[in-house]
Amino acid sequence: MANFDVSKRDSFGSKIGVIAATAGSAIGLGNIWRFPYVVGENGGGAFLFVYLAFILAIGIPVMLSEFVIGRSAQLSPYGAFKKLAPGRPWFLIGIMGVGAAFMILAFYAAVAGWTLEYIFQSVKNGFTGKSPDELSTMFDEFRQDSLRPVIWFLLFMGLTAWIVISGVRKGIEKYTKILMPILLVILVVLCIRAVTLPGAGAGLTFLFKPDFSKINAETILKALGQAFFSLSIGMGTLITYGSYIKKNDNLATTAVSVSFADTLIAILAGIAIFPAVFAFGINPGAEEGLVFITLPTIFQQMPGGYYFSLLFFMLLAVAALTSTISVLEVVVAYFVEELKMTRKKATIFATLSISVLGIVAAGSWGWFENLTLFGLNIFGLLNFTSANILLPLGGFFIVAFIGWYFGKEETRKEAGNEGALKARYLPVYMFIVKFIAPIAIALVFLNGLGIVKF
Ligand code: PFF
Repeated sequence: MANFDVSKRDSFGSKIGVIAATAGSAIGLGNIWRFPYVVGENGGGAFLFVYLAFILAIGIPVMLSEFVIGRSAQLSPYGAFKKLAPGRPWFLIGIMGVGAAFMILAFYAAVAGWTLEYIFQSVKNGFTGKSPDELSTMFDEFRQDSLRPVIWFLLFMGLTAWIVISGVRKGIEKYTKILMPILLVILVVLCIRAVTLPGAGAGLTFLFKPDFSKINAETILKALGQAFFSLSIGMGTLITYGSYIKKNDNLATTAVSVSFADTLIAILAGIAIFPAVFAFGINPGAEEGLVFITLPTIFQQMPGGYYFSLLFFMLLAVAALTSTISVLEVVVAYFVEELKMTRKKATIFATLSISVLGIVAAGSWGWFENLTLFGLNIFGLLNFTSANILLPLGGFFIVAFIGWYFGKEETRKEAGNEGALKARYLPVYMFIVKFIAPIAIALVFLNGLGIVKF
């Protein structure tokens, strides 16, 4: 195994490049589209509290574990586990990750396609004069259309494939560094507009005041799933990215900075959305439509709203793109390293096969509306299963791998840059990955799916 020349492997150009690319993967629709609606659906403040606890106690350690595995092996997930644990079944984590990547990209690129429709609507001033109810109807009608969501989806997949074919450094690094800070600025402007709306206070109370009676086993599992989804962890994306990180970069501070940036963006999205939701009487449980109904409502209340809307949906599409390329990368790296395909062939092959599933996901309210399983359409099924089942399961095995197989000394070498860094956090981290994280994930998982009742 490992008969390819590791020294020729691409690496991210600079420290800020690493953080930008990893944050580019983490920050996306998960923060701005998924986070607000999942918070809204699950009762607000208490959910946020549990979510933050999971980011801190489980998310950051899992992220660091992925970096350690990836940089140490210099391979993407499947190959990494085969190299670090030859003859052992740990490589199955890699295969599960490729499966999760398939599922995530199929529904995620569908939502990314919705952002393209909303760019188009922004251009032609399609929101002006519409009440929240009318915007809600507009969103539903668009989703039920038999062609539009599918065409936008395919366009987005094509865009993703094109960037992945152009290679790691050039493709990823260039776009992320400039555009993400602009998105941050627009979000802050949106927050300011939202909190100064009359009646905004109720939204902030909803978001920040925990009411623990709203929490149950299922919402706790959804908080864990959202944490994994938002941080891009549990399926090996960051193992692949870790393999591109330079040997003298600090893995722990990278994991902490990325997690912090990711959480900040999600909370800002919450602050932009919920005050407006309450001020305009929008239903916080409006599910996948929440952001697509609320934001155009806010834009109408802003001077220059036309331009803000256009710019915002464009940047949201870019944020989605820096995430979809990281998901596609997982599948492509697998095909390149294990099936020995060229990068171009692997990308085209992966894109086409994922698109088959994605067409069904994008058409879940149109052509395929009658296709349901366990009461969910295909979109809902992919969304629920990938985030709440596959990612936590992957995370469980990733921390278990570090804690119980890879071990403290190997971890110290990799995370401590062969002795160049002190890595004083190591004992705490090892305790978490050995005991706290696997036990917590297992309990939340079994309880949340109703397999065990506490
Ligand atoms: N973290 C991305 C987001 O929040 O939008 C979504 C994602 C990317 C999930 C990559 C998983 C992944 F591997």
